[in-house]
Amino acid sequence: MSLIALARNTGYAFGENRLTLAAAIILALLALCAVFGPSLAPFDPLTTAAAAKLAPPSTLHPFGTDALGRDILSRVIVAARLDLGMAISAVALSFLVGLALGSLAGYFGGWTDRIVGRVMDTIMAFPLFVLAMGIVVALGNSVLNIIIATMIINLPFYCRFARSAVNVRRDLGYVEAARMGGNGSLMVLLNHIVPNILPPMMVQASLNMGWAILNAAGLSFIGLGVRPPTPEWGIMVSEGASYIISGEWWAFMFPGAALVLAVFCFNMLGDGLRDLLDPRKLSVEFRTRHGVVRALESVTLSVARGEIVGVVGESGSGKSVTAYTVMGLNDEAAEITNGRITMGGIDLLAAQPEALRELRGREMAMIFQSPRTALNPIRKVGKQIEDVLLEHANLPRRDLKKAAIAALARVRIPDPERRAEAYPFELSGGMCQRVMIAMALACTPSVLIADEPTTGLDVTTQAVIMDLIRDMSRSARMSTLLITHDLGLAGEYCDRIAVMHAGHIVEIAATEALLDHPAHPYTRQLLAATPIPETRLDSLTSIPGQLPDLRSTLPPCRFSGRCERRQPVCDERELPWAELSPAHIVRCRFPL
Ligand SMILES: Nc1ncnc2c1ncn2[C@@H]1O[C@H](COP(=O)(O)OP(=O)(O)O)[C@@H](O)[C@H]1O
Ligand SMILES: [Mg+2]
Repeated sequence: MSLIALARNTGYAFGENRLTLAAAIILALLALCAVFGPSLAPFDPLTTAAAAKLAPPSTLHPFGTDALGRDILSRVIVAARLDLGMAISAVALSFLVGLALGSLAGYFGGWTDRIVGRVMDTIMAFPLFVLAMGIVVALGNSVLNIIIATMIINLPFYCRFARSAVNVRRDLGYVEAARMGGNGSLMVLLNHIVPNILPPMMVQASLNMGWAILNAAGLSFIGLGVRPPTPEWGIMVSEGASYIISGEWWAFMFPGAALVLAVFCFNMLGDGLRDLLDPRKLSVEFRTRHGVVRALESVTLSVARGEIVGVVGESGSGKSVTAYTVMGLNDEAAEITNGRITMGGIDLLAAQPEALRELRGREMAMIFQSPRTALNPIRKVGKQIEDVLLEHANLPRRDLKKAAIAALARVRIPDPERRAEAYPFELSGGMCQRVMIAMALACTPSVLIADEPTTGLDVTTQAVIMDLIRDMSRSARMSTLLITHDLGLAGEYCDRIAVMHAGHIVEIAATEALLDHPAHPYTRQLLAATPIPETRLDSLTSIPGQLPDLRSTLPPCRFSGRCERRQPVCDERELPWAELSPAHIVRCRFPL
C-alpha cells in the first residue's frame, strides 16, 4: 500500500516538474559513468600523446585534449566515479553519524545534549571550507581524508536537524504508549522515532550532495586532496584554467560543466524529493450526479505542535471539506486526487486502517460544525464522553464518571453532574456544542480540528471555550486547526492564518502580517467585511460577486471573476506562489 502511494507520488513529482525529471535522467547518466566509466571511455584517461596536446574538440576527441594530449572526454567520464563516490560517501557518513548523535542528544537531553551541542557549535564556529582545508592538511592528502573533512563540515546540519526532530516527537502520545508498553529507550528511539524523521533527513541529504561535490572538488582544485594525474573534475578545472587566456577553453570548460551539471542536478532532485515527501497539494473532488465538484485544489497547510492555525474564508470555500479530509471522514463521493496528509511523519492516506482508528481517536479530535448531528441522540451525554475515555484514555472504569463530569465542567457547563444525565435533545444547541468540545478535549489530543467551534455560542462562552483551546494548545502542545468564517476570532487566537477561496488557499501568513499587510485582494475584501470595534458599521463593505461554480472549468485563479486587479494573463497562465517574506505566501500574480 505505502509502496503504491510512493510510486504515485513519484509519478506526481516528476509529472509536476519536468526539471526534476530532467535532473533525474542526467544523474542516472552520471551514475552510469561512475559505475562503468573505464569501459565507456573511448581512450585511456592516463595515456599522454605529445603530438596531440591541446587539440580543439573534433570528431575523434569531442571534448578536445589537454596539455599532455590526454582525451578530455575520457577523463571527464572516468572522473565521475571518484567525484560522485567522494561526495556520496561523505554525505552518507555525515547522515549516519549526525543522525546517531542528534537522536541521542534530542532524546536524552541533559549532559548528552550539552556535549553534542558544544561540539557542533565548535565546528560551526569556523568558516567551513577553511576548516576542511585544515583537516586535510593535518591528516594528509588522500581521498579518505577528503571524505573525512567533507563529512565533518557537514555533520552539524544533520546533527541539529535530527536533534530537533527527535525532540519534538519525544513526548508524542504514540511514543509515550511505546514506552509504557515496556520498550527500552533505544528500542523506542529506533523503532518509533527515527523512522519518522528519515524522510525529511533524506531531503536534507540530497540537497547537501551538490555542496559536498563542490567541497571535495574544491579541495582538489586548490591542490589539497586528489593529486594529478588522477582524473578528477576539480583538478582538471584547475589545470585547464591556465589555458583560458591563450584561447584553449575546452580544457577548462568541459570538466567545469560536468561539475556544475552534477551540482545543479542534485539540487533539483533534492527539491523534487521535498515535494515528494512533504504533506502537500491536497486535491479533493466530489463525483455527483450533476458533475464533478473540484472542492479542493493543491491545498498545502502545516500545523506545528502547540500552534493554532486559522482557516478563514466565506461559506462554501472548502474549509469543512479540508477538515473532513484530514480526519478521513469524507463521504463516499469524495476522491482525493492528489497530495498527502501526514501527522508526525505518518502518511494518513497510506496507513493501515487499525493504526488510523487508533490515531484518530487518541491523537486527533474534531469539533464539528453541527453539534446535534455529531452526538448520539439516544445516549446520555455523560455516557458518550465516558465511551470516548474508555476507548482511548486508559482510565480505570470507576474513574470514568468523575472524569466525564470534570470534562463537562471544563467547558463551563453549569451543574455538570445533572447535565451528564441529559440526552442531547434536552439541551440547547449551544450546550450541545459545549458537550462536543468537552468530548473532543477529554483525551488531550495532539491534533484538534475545530470547525466553527463557537458558532451558536454567546460571546462570553465563546471566549471561555477559545481560551480553553488556547491553553491546551500551549500547555499540552496540541496542534490546532481553527476553521472559522470570523476573521476577528481568528485574528485574536491564531498564530498563523490561511485564507481560503473556492478550494484554493490564496494566502498564508503570521496573523499580524496578514491583518496589517494583506497581500491578496480577497484577503483585503474579507478584512473590509469584518467588523472591528471602534469603526462604524456603515464603513463595512460586502464582497462583490459570488464563489464560482466548482463544477465548471475554472481559470487558474478562481478569484479572477471577482477581482478588481484582474488582467488577461490571470486567466491564462498557471498561478505563481509568491513568497513576500519568509512564511508570508500569496497565490496571486498581482499581489497588493
Ligand atoms: N458531499 C459533497 N458533495 C458534493 N459537493 C460537496 C460535498 N461536500 C462539500 N461539497 C462542496 O465543496 C465546497 C466546499 O464546501 P465546504 O467545505 O462545506 O465549505 P465551507 O468553507 O463553508 O466549510 C462547496 O462548493 C460544496 O458544495
Ligand atoms: Mg463549513
